[in-house]
Amino acid sequence: MTAIPTLDMIDALASEYQDKSPLEIMDLALSQSGDIAISFSGAEDVVLIDLASQLKKPFRVFSLDTGRLHPETYQFIETVRNHYNLEIEICFPESEAVQAFTQEKGLFSFFKDGHQECCGIRKVQPLRKKLASLDAWITGQRKDQSPGTRNEIPVIQFDNGFSGIGKQLLKFNPLANWSSADVWSYIRMMEIPYNSLHNQGFISIGCEPCTRPVLPNQHEREGRWWWEEATHKECGLHAGNIK
Ligand code: ADX
Ligand code: SF4
Repeated sequence: MTAIPTLDMIDALASEYQDKSPLEIMDLALSQSGDIAISFSGAEDVVLIDLASQLKKPFRVFSLDTGRLHPETYQFIETVRNHYNLEIEICFPESEAVQAFTQEKGLFSFFKDGHQECCGIRKVQPLRKKLASLDAWITGQRKDQSPGTRNEIPVIQFDNGFSGIGKQLLKFNPLANWSSADVWSYIRMMEIPYNSLHNQGFISIGCEPCTRPVLPNQHEREGRWWWEEATHKECGLHAGNIK
């Protein structure tokens, strides 16, 4: 076990690991002494879980259940739980906040006034609560997922999107330099389970009302919050990506 790196060590570590494989980055992440967990959305980031399971080191996984995921995604989370014999920590939003919000604005207010408020209640607040109990988290973010916001993400960084939680939080992005094609080669080669929505043309998968399949050659991010401006497609989980 190595101690969680300090602020001045992080840039050096990020450049040292820049060209290393996702497995090596995952190994580094799981070798830290603090509390760390994989953030699993129920989509192609299943690759993170497969990598971690190869290392034969203990690891934790959490998923944010917004209450609005596709039935296929719930089924897939259960499949992953059984396939890897894992406990998955399911994080729910505060019921009072969801109740007040939906009572005032209904169930589809995001189509009228944007996704930030709903994502704030259903995703960001539960994530903030989970991260307050962790020293580091591991995400499936990749540079190629969102040209406007993710093309500079390093493999290791301090997460400055959650400065309010009162501690310095480390974030590992082992897949940062992989392309979508790399991820899918891995899924096929390792014959690991995947979300059946991918068989229906979905690439990037989030909540059911805010995700749709894309057409050939459309960027995967165009299937998310398609009624909003392309350059701001972050829901707040990765707020540090917005400059
Ligand atoms: S999002 O911010 O636009 O919703 P995206 O779907 O691209 O994120 O996923 C990138 C990474 O964010 C995932 O690999 C995962 O680590 C994390 N993530 C996204 N949604 C969830 C979720 N519902 N539960 C846990 N982690 C999530
Ligand atoms: Fe709400 Fe859509 Fe955000 Fe899900 S993605 S939390 S349904 S606005």
